[in-house]
Formats: sequence, structure tokens, C-alpha cells
Amino acid sequence: MMVPELNYSEGSNRGQEEISGPVPNSEQAGGDVAPTRIIVGITGASGAIYGIRLLERLRRPSVEIHLLLSRSGIRTLETETGMRLADVRAMADFHYPIHDVGARLASGSFTVHGMVIAPCSIRTMSAIAAGLSSNLLLRAADVTLKERRKLILMVRESPLHLGHLRTMAALSEMGAIIAPPVPAFYHRPQTVMDLVDYSVERVLDLLGLPAHDAHRWDP
Ligand SMILES: Cc1cc2nc3c(=O)[nH]c(=O)nc-3n(C[C@H](O)[C@H](O)[C@H](O)COP(=O)(O)O)c2cc1C
Repeated sequence: MMVPELNYSEGSNRGQEEISGPVPNSEQAGGDVAPTRIIVGITGASGAIYGIRLLERLRRPSVEIHLLLSRSGIRTLETETGMRLADVRAMADFHYPIHDVGARLASGSFTVHGMVIAPCSIRTMSAIAAGLSSNLLLRAADVTLKERRKLILMVRESPLHLGHLRTMAALSEMGAIIAPPVPAFYHRPQTVMDLVDYSVERVLDLLGLPAHDAHRWDP
């Protein structure tokens, strides 16, 4: 499979928007009704498709999506899906350069409903647990926790060592929701996307934004 040339190398080739702050994509941004703001983070764990599908399912008139991708997240996105970064960014209302720790998502005064990291790497999970706000994604997650807002981490790794498990326990004590994308089979999935959708639908439930067509156990 041809993997498109990536656009995240140090110091060169970055689009202008990388240094020019948030870029709105939404027609409803600035509208009359306060939108439900959701931050979506995509990091370098396998499963970029979870982030993509989450963006697709969140695209509703009442939801305002703020997107952050780590550099490794961009890499796995392009490796696993072949999608162009620009096309993924276009799915959000706003996106931000990961290094811009002065962007509005870095402040608790910018109110958001919640944040989902899909997928969440062990590295990012561990950095959040340690309070390392060294990039905007980590800072936004830290703010989400300190403001007692909903932080949902779709952590993808297996197997897990004791350090991973202890970190998950610590984050859970801090108020985060650890929601690994573990598939279920009672809805008789036929395709990979059926499996992806199942995990994404559970996250939408956790956000309080359920999908109208979600697969549910209802014998
Ligand atoms: C193709 C690929 C798949 C990866 N899968 C995982 C994974 O499933 N879980 C994980 O924690 N890290 C995974 N990694 C490693 C992370 O990308 C790496 O730890 C990176 O530093 C994470 O950075 P980030 O948290 O800033 O995105 C993978 C890397 C690559 C290139």
C-alpha cells in the first residue's frame, strides 16, 4: 500500500495554519445557540480510525469539535488510513497546532463539555497521569481534569504491564474514564467498521451524546 508523504517533519513543510492559531471550519461557529464543545485528540496508538469515526459521528449542528493531533497521531493516521491530514482537520470546527500551549484550549476559562482521546497512546496516557502539560493536547487534558470535566481515554495497548495498569487506576481516581476500544460481538458485527462503531458509540454514550442508531443489547 502506498503511504502518502507525511507533513510533520521538524521545522519544515508545515502548513501556515500550524503557526497561525485555530482555524474555524464551521458554519455554525459564532451562531446563536451555545454549541456543545468537544475536544477530540488523536494520538499515536494504533486505531486512528476510532478518531476518524468519532469525528464523523460528532458532526452535528449542535456540536462544536476542537481537534488536536499529536505528531505520532498524524503518522499513524496516514499509515493506517491513508487519509490526508487536511481532510481530517476539515472534519472539525477548529484545529490547533500541538505546540501552541497558549491556545484557548490551554485555559479552563474556555468552557468545553468534554474531551476524548481516540486512540490514546500509552505515552500520552502516562503524561496526562503525571501532569505533564508539555504540548497542547496534554495541557487540554490536564485542564479537562482540573475543571472536573469529562475526559475519556480510548487507550489502546496490549498486553498491559503493571505500570500501565497502575497509571490507569491513578487516572481513574483523578476522574478520567478509561475506555479502551474493546469490541463486543453480541450485535453480530459483519465488518471492521461495525467493530469500530461499537466502541465509538459507547464513547458517545459516555459523553451524553448518544447516536440515534447505536447498537445496543436489548434482548
Ligand atoms: C504504526 C504504529 C502503531 C503504534 N501503536 C501503538 C499502540 O497501539 N499503542 C501505543 O501506546 N503506542 C503505539 N505506537 C507508539 C506510539 O506512536 C509512540 O509511543 C509515540 O511516542 C506516541 O506519541 P503520542 O502519545 O504523542 O502520540 C505505535 C506506533 C506506530 C508507528
